[in-house]
Amino acid sequence: MRIEERIEALKRKKNAIVLAHNYERAEVQDIAEFVGDSLELARIAMDTSADIIIFCGVDFMAETAAILNPHKKVVIPDVCAICPMAQQLPQEVLRAAKSEHPDVETVLYVNTLAESKALADCICTSANAQEIVRAMDTSTVLFGPDHNLAYYAQQGTSKKIVPVPEHGNCPSHHQITLEDLLKAKDAHPNAKIMVHPECIPEVQDRADYIASTSGMVKISKEVEDEEFLIGTEIGLLHRLEKEVPGKKFYPVSNTAVCPQMKMCTLENVEVALEQEQPEVVLSPEIMEAARKPIERMLTLSH
Ligand code: 13P
Ligand code: SF4
Repeated sequence: MRIEERIEALKRKKNAIVLAHNYERAEVQDIAEFVGDSLELARIAMDTSADIIIFCGVDFMAETAAILNPHKKVVIPDVCAICPMAQQLPQEVLRAAKSEHPDVETVLYVNTLAESKALADCICTSANAQEIVRAMDTSTVLFGPDHNLAYYAQQGTSKKIVPVPEHGNCPSHHQITLEDLLKAKDAHPNAKIMVHPECIPEVQDRADYIASTSGMVKISKEVEDEEFLIGTEIGLLHRLEKEVPGKKFYPVSNTAVCPQMKMCTLENVEVALEQEQPEVVLSPEIMEAARKPIERMLTLSH
């Protein structure tokens, strides 16, 4: 039997589903029940009737699924798939910023540690960052950890956004330069520029469309444009080419690769299904405290 068939059989036997982020390896995306962005994956994780969720993504995504599903088993095939941006805002840094800015609400990007989410008033993703900041009750908002997403959120609101920590960013997106973009545009002058809000402000300012990963798939299906320069992690190209055949997609930078998103392989998905390990385990107190701002996001976000 091929590995894909063995994985299918294990899923059926164990009433398990595989969720995969848009940046995962093509072959992992292809065996998943659902492929999506962070917001979609959180919603699907909450709605599934499966007993086991095999989460092919990075740590904070699997943790979010576990926080929303305290009675289900959430398994992450490779525990080393740790998002470096989420590590940039430990609880003590956030506590210090909160005490410097008392009486303001804190919005944290879902790309954070669970212990930090536990201190937030609301979570956001790249799909709803502007909407969530606008919905906050205070006119100043503490926002972390991504400065580039903070810049994007600021374009959609008159509220004052205070970023925390000082230089939070995603290494895979932050390395995409304006020069990369201009070079790609020279090579494909008719292509529309579509970028992720984790890109630097100079890149965002040149874009025709700024969207979450699944937002990019949706836009490219809906608009009449035929060619796109894609400013995000290159794993998204697989889904774009599969779901939007006939249109052309070019990466702005071939080096925009998130190594942590590539750690999950078919082999470790099979092992994760067989052994139901490694399971995401968080303390009940952190789960309880982090669930509130995640649920607030899901209520506020349309
Ligand atoms: P999306 O929610 O847009 O898929 O982004 C997740 C992420 O980690 C981007 O680097
Ligand atoms: Fe984290 Fe960036 Fe990888 Fe997304 S692409 S998981 S933000 S390191």
